[in-house]
Amino acid sequence: MTISPDPVAGQAVKAADRAHVFHSWSAQSLIDPLAVAGAEGSYFWDYEGKRYLDFSSQLVNTNIGHQHPKVVAAIQEQAAKLCTFAPAFAIEARSEAARLIAERTPGDLDKIFFTNGGAEANENAIRMARLHTGRQKVLSTYRSYHGATANAIALTGDPRRWPNETGVSGIVHFWGPYPYRSNFHAENEAQECERALAHLEQVIAFEGPQTVAAIILETVVGTAGILIPPAGYLAGVREICDRYGIVFILDEVMAGFGRTGEWFAADHWGVTPDLLTFAKGVNSGYVPLGGVAISGKIAETFAERPFPGGLTYSGHPLACASAVATLNAMAEEGIVENAKHIGETVIGPELRAMAERHPSIGEVRGLGVFWAVELVRNRETREPLTPYNAAGPANAPMAELAAECKKRGLWPFTNMNRFHVVPPCNVSETEVKEGLAILDEVLTFTDQHTA
Ligand SMILES: Cc1ncc(COP(=O)(O)O)c(C=O)c1O
Repeated sequence: MTISPDPVAGQAVKAADRAHVFHSWSAQSLIDPLAVAGAEGSYFWDYEGKRYLDFSSQLVNTNIGHQHPKVVAAIQEQAAKLCTFAPAFAIEARSEAARLIAERTPGDLDKIFFTNGGAEANENAIRMARLHTGRQKVLSTYRSYHGATANAIALTGDPRRWPNETGVSGIVHFWGPYPYRSNFHAENEAQECERALAHLEQVIAFEGPQTVAAIILETVVGTAGILIPPAGYLAGVREICDRYGIVFILDEVMAGFGRTGEWFAADHWGVTPDLLTFAKGVNSGYVPLGGVAISGKIAETFAERPFPGGLTYSGHPLACASAVATLNAMAEEGIVENAKHIGETVIGPELRAMAERHPSIGEVRGLGVFWAVELVRNRETREPLTPYNAAGPANAPMAELAAECKKRGLWPFTNMNRFHVVPPCNVSETEVKEGLAILDEVLTFTDQHTA
């Protein structure tokens, strides 16, 4: 890893950014984007030469770390061979990527529709579900994020939905399981599972089962809290869907491709949805790519009848070549197994030990390299460290936590009152320990906000 500081170049990058780049999700004049000079593996660095351990995997997408040499080479080779070609043709990289993905997805999810990212994957999944069933409504959970396009943001439960709502989406929200803050006054996971399923059935009954096209869930809820479904919940939703002829969609955009220590999070519970959406880890985001894995039954709907959807860049050769190289490298290098091992032997035990030392930790939960540290003001009452959707002074304890991590060279992922530990799936034990030691130190600041 050669880092050659060049502050002058950094200033030019920053100046052009501030003059011309319009950033996602931001009040443009209130942000201060870091100018990044380079990245390798689990680290990246700025033009001053300061290095950061990437505990965010960017937006939880660089599952194989930065600049994986096999994937970089595959993109270069594909660029020399065939940069781009329309979706209507059969292209080697596209065929092979689809084959490798279908081989890994559960059950009979054997046909792949490619998109440029996760939101478009969810858009197309609900389009398929609506056409397959002839019904309109889609059910999703309040604690969720499904993307920023029109339907995907309407499916989303988190506050990013509010300014985007049209009020005519046909989307209905319900509560998924969350044992630590149970909406059902459950005292254990089994109760939470049973009551969450009863609640879902009631929502379906009152909406009219014959009007519901699909239920979409993040297999493990990501940004909204790394919520692991209790045993039996996903199987219960599968059974409800089968009973009412509802399409079951699992959004594995964040949880898929190794993040939870299995190829797909659904593999932990042996559940097969009718449609599975993916993006991010499929090629670590080296080139934009997402898609929908489609069951035989839904593929059959479009065997004689045209599917009314498409994208100029569906199955883009550079993106597909990078997916082929990523999936092969993940298998060759045991990257999914590494994620599982790191979660079981390092992240889990160390976070649980930290919870003993830090009164601000309410709960730690996770699988693989997908962990949340939920921060509270009071362990007894479970009052969150910051209120739901806090901004400005109300969010100060979380802003301080993030700033203190960055000062110490750790790039954090925080959301509301949570710190997410989401390094690359091929992170080493030493790297994880380095990051957790910084978190341990910084949590002493957070502890001061507890009562
Ligand atoms: C679970 C989930 N679904 C969908 C999306 C949207 O993906 P994209 O940003 O690629 O459109 C995300 C992005 O974070 C996600 O986490």
